[in-house]
Order: sequence, then C-alpha cells, then structure tokens
Amino acid sequence: MSEAVSQPLPSPLTVGIIGCGVMGRGIAQIAALAGARVHLADGFEGAAAAARDTLATTFDTLVNKGKLTPDAASAALSRLHPCAVLSELADCDLIVEAIVEDLAAKKTLFATLETIVSSTTILASNTSSLSVTSIAAGLQHPRRVAGFHFFNPVPVMKIVEVIGGILTDEQIVEQLLVLGQQWGHTAVRAKDTPGFIVNHAGRGFGTEGLRVLSEGVTAIPTLDRILRDTAGFKLGPCELMDMTGLDVSHPVMESIYRQYFEEPRFRPQGLTRQMLVAGLLGKKTGRGFYQYDAAGKKITE
Ligand code: NAI
Repeated sequence: MSEAVSQPLPSPLTVGIIGCGVMGRGIAQIAALAGARVHLADGFEGAAAAARDTLATTFDTLVNKGKLTPDAASAALSRLHPCAVLSELADCDLIVEAIVEDLAAKKTLFATLETIVSSTTILASNTSSLSVTSIAAGLQHPRRVAGFHFFNPVPVMKIVEVIGGILTDEQIVEQLLVLGQQWGHTAVRAKDTPGFIVNHAGRGFGTEGLRVLSEGVTAIPTLDRILRDTAGFKLGPCELMDMTGLDVSHPVMESIYRQYFEEPRFRPQGLTRQMLVAGLLGKKTGRGFYQYDAAGKKITE
C-alpha cells in the first residue's frame, strides 16, 4: 500500500461547528484560538449565538487569568460567526458535527450538508462511539467523512482521536491528524471500532463501575473516591458520568453494546437508563449520582 502524501488544508481554515453544546463550544474555542474562521450552527434556535456569548465570557476569564492577551481574545472572538441556517456553512473547508449521539440524526445531517457544502469539504464527526463507516454510508462522497473525537473539556483534555472508516480517504485522516496537532492536541489515529480507543478501554471503568454498584459491592462515593485517590483517575466513574451527562453516556454504553453484538461484558446497567428517563442527567440538570448547585459545584457526597 502506498503512503498517502498529506496535502495542507487551506489557511486560514473555515470550520463549521454543528451542535453548540458542551463539545461544540469547546471545539470552537480551540479552533478560533488557533486562527480558524468558525461558523457556529445548532438545531435549537439561539444556541449558536448563545455559544458565542459563552465563549466571549470564557475568553474574558482567560485574559483575567493572564492566559490570553486581550488582542488574541478579541481576534478569536471576531472569528466566531453564529449562523441562523445551515446554508451559511456553504464555504466551510471542514465541518465538525457535535450533535446528539444518534446515528440516524448524524446521517440525516450529513446528507443535508452534502446539498450545501462543496464535494471536497471534510465532514467530521465528534461521535463518541458510532461507526464512522455507518455515518458515511449512503452519502454521495463518503470518502471525505472521518471521526474527529475530542474529550470533555476540550481545551483541557488535549487529545483527539482521528478515525477513518472503510470508505474514508487516507488523505483526510492525515489532514485531521495534522490539524489536531495544530490546534494544540495530541492527535492519535484509531480504527473504526465501537468506542474507538478511549471509550472502548473505558468500558472497564464506567460500565464495570456500574456493575460494581449493581452488585452492591460498595457505595457510589466510595467507588469514586477509591478510583480517584488510589487508582489515580481525576474523577471516579460516577463523577465522570455526571460531568459528561447521562444523555450522552448512556446512549454511548448502549451503542457500544449493540455494535459488539451484545457481548455481555459491554452490557449497560438498568440504573443509568432509569436515571436518564427520570432526567437525572448529572451536572447539567443539577442531579445525577450527586447533587449540584447552580454553578455546578457538588453539594452531596
Ligand atoms: P450537548 O447536548 O451538550 O450538545 C448537543 C447540541 O447539539 C445541542 O446544543 C443541541 O441543540 C444540538 N443538536 C442536537 N441535535 C441536533 C441536530 N439534529 N441538528 C443540529 N443541532 C442539534 O451534547 P455534547 O455533550 O456536546 O455531545 C455532542 C456529541 O459529542 C455527541 O456525539 C457525544 O457523543 C460527543 N461527545 C461528548 C462528550 C462529552 O463528554 N459530553 C465527549 C466526547 C464526545
């Protein structure tokens, strides 16, 4: 197999971020700070403009902490453009999708994007667990689809997995690996398998942690404390799920389980499904495994 020679991406790069939730905002932040023009779009009216406002506050905080110069902050802010309709993304060189973790929703979005952007625009997904090959299947130009999987919080967790599906052009993978590095992250190539590297290996942490709870081996705070203090993780599994949000974590567990043909070791627990149904999503709803105040500070042990 011949080595692909990576063509540089245009500079400055025009990036469309679709889905301005926690991940989309984080990706927009690092992209704008790295010099990209960033179009923000979201299916929820007003969310793109709200994301720009939130990022303005973030940049102010970084300036006050001496981590960013006022000039760099205002330049990055001027590069963020909220869009009211997807057609405003027509000139993007790269789209990074960070919408709901649902295969049908992502496929529908990418099919719509193909009617808007050029046939060479890279379509990247921040999916945590879904098959890049499945997202690309059925598109007119599936070769330009790849996974570009960041971690939460994006500016802090300086790693990104780059995933090519069966149909992906090697050139696209190479370009995203370079771009991830340019955005200040360690970019690693991962095979298109359920959960890729981190969310596959992480099953032993999250899913198995829930099994420990379901078997009554210990209580939630002890499980978290032991994995934090003894095993060296920054957060315990329940703390991590509360931060991520069960609206994201539980579908990821179900998706990986399904994609591995219901292999028992990946089986999710009923507890997180019940919590999801009850709206106990974690920090974002003020209650998950723990309770939180309006600022997101844990108020229960
Ligand atoms: P979120 O719920 O914070 O944000 C999702 C945003 O997408 C919302 O603003 C929503 O209005 C918008 N949206 C939903 N469906 C849409 C559609 N069909 N078209 C346009 N906009 C739509 O979710 P979060 O946590 O940012 O996750 C987004 C993606 O990133 C998911 O695929 C998730 O698996 C992945 N991810 C999440 C991580 C986390 O820790 N939260 C970590 C790494 C990846």
